[in-house]
Amino acid sequence: MESRPYNGRDSNGRDFTTTLRSNDTIYTMILSFPPVCLIVLVGASGSGKSTWAKKHFLASQIVSSDQCREMVVDDAASQSANEDAFALFHQWIALRLKNRRLTVADSTALKPGARDRLIELAHTARVPLQIVAFDVPLDEAIRRDAQRTERSVGERVVTRHRAALEQALRELPKDTRLSGVHLLTPEQMDTATVQTTPGALTAPAFDVIGDVHGCLGELKTLLEKLGYDRTESTHPEGRVPVFVGDLADRGPDSPGVLRFVCDLVARDKALFVPGNHDDKLFRMLQGGKVQRTHGLDLTEEQLLGMPEKERERLTLDVLAYLAPQPVHLVLADGKLAVAHAGIRDDMLGQSSDFITRFTRFGDVRGFAPDGMPIRHDWAAERENGDDGPLICYGHTPQDEIVFVNNTVNLDGGCVFGGFLAALRFPERERVTVPAERVYAQKRVHSEA
Ligand code: UTP
Ligand code: MG
Repeated sequence: MESRPYNGRDSNGRDFTTTLRSNDTIYTMILSFPPVCLIVLVGASGSGKSTWAKKHFLASQIVSSDQCREMVVDDAASQSANEDAFALFHQWIALRLKNRRLTVADSTALKPGARDRLIELAHTARVPLQIVAFDVPLDEAIRRDAQRTERSVGERVVTRHRAALEQALRELPKDTRLSGVHLLTPEQMDTATVQTTPGALTAPAFDVIGDVHGCLGELKTLLEKLGYDRTESTHPEGRVPVFVGDLADRGPDSPGVLRFVCDLVARDKALFVPGNHDDKLFRMLQGGKVQRTHGLDLTEEQLLGMPEKERERLTLDVLAYLAPQPVHLVLADGKLAVAHAGIRDDMLGQSSDFITRFTRFGDVRGFAPDGMPIRHDWAAERENGDDGPLICYGHTPQDEIVFVNNTVNLDGGCVFGGFLAALRFPERERVTVPAERVYAQKRVHSEA
């Protein structure tokens, strides 16, 4: 059994070498892609890019420049329509990425400028970009092109493309904007298989993290204690942090926490359910009229203290990635549920305005004459909790993290000088870090 190394870059941008084992002459290789990414095919005309893409991806996932030409001028070969065809090509890709759909860009992408444009689209959508380059020898590419019946470009064009590919193959491994580069020889085009790495929703284990409220230092310490890589914030065992919401307000660095969590969520490395503070923040960022109370005033001040470009970027990202997240999650085959202020069993998997309100504020049943909310302790009232999922939530600061009827409140009141808490699931282990200091004075909880 012969083996040889394959050099590539993984989805976190790190170089890796994997060994391809061969059985006589057959090399097998697994190309692994993030569940949401832009895959850019790079190769000479006639090398077999479209054929390969159709074999491994849904027709709806492939956006091809040929198809765009056909759509604008009824002719897939028309070079005169390039400008409009590529305007459509880029717009189509941008819309798919905005909707967080895996997309294969099928064009030659041989010119650096052509790749730059695609890299820009992926970065704008905060989606990783991976290259699949087709290293087909010139004579084979010419042969493949010539055998096409529908459209062939001819020897001269293929030769020119092959020279451009040589140049691209020198540049691609050095391009740090790419999150992965895969090179396929003609044999590997036949044998390589494609898989998408499991996304955050299907992670093997989770670390549910309580209300952060701008406590960035404590959050980083907690993640480190949980075993996350300090620079990438990923876990060697593929564990995924799940934020119970209330990322901002009252604390020392709400923009920092938002930036941090947003980047993880955008990369599908973390999950997040919005809480009441997040909801209010989203409305403020959308230009809505909201009262700057309960620490939102401080968050606004911190945001206004940022360089304008960074603030605009953060605003767009928060609204693009955090605001649309569902208010509750059911994970681990239904064994774990997460909602900011909790959720009742009969609400799991459902959505309504009532449920959204419940997940933001808990079981509030009206207000007393003094304006205080009348709360019911839905967790204490939960029946047959062991038959349902473990429900993780936050919202109301606790002195101690305790399990009640298979529910657990993970708000350690860090911003009030308490602690930031996480729960390892399925282990059900509590991990906490103390607040570095008291950032805000605790008042009677009247937010509803
Ligand atoms: P394609 O038409 O897929 O090439 O295949 P392409 O790279 O997408 O070309 P452009 O850039 O759009 O012009 C070209 C020919 O090669 C054959 C296909 O059947 C087709 O006739 N082919 C493709 C192979 O013989 N083997 C393969 O592995 C892939
Ligand atoms: Mg093609």
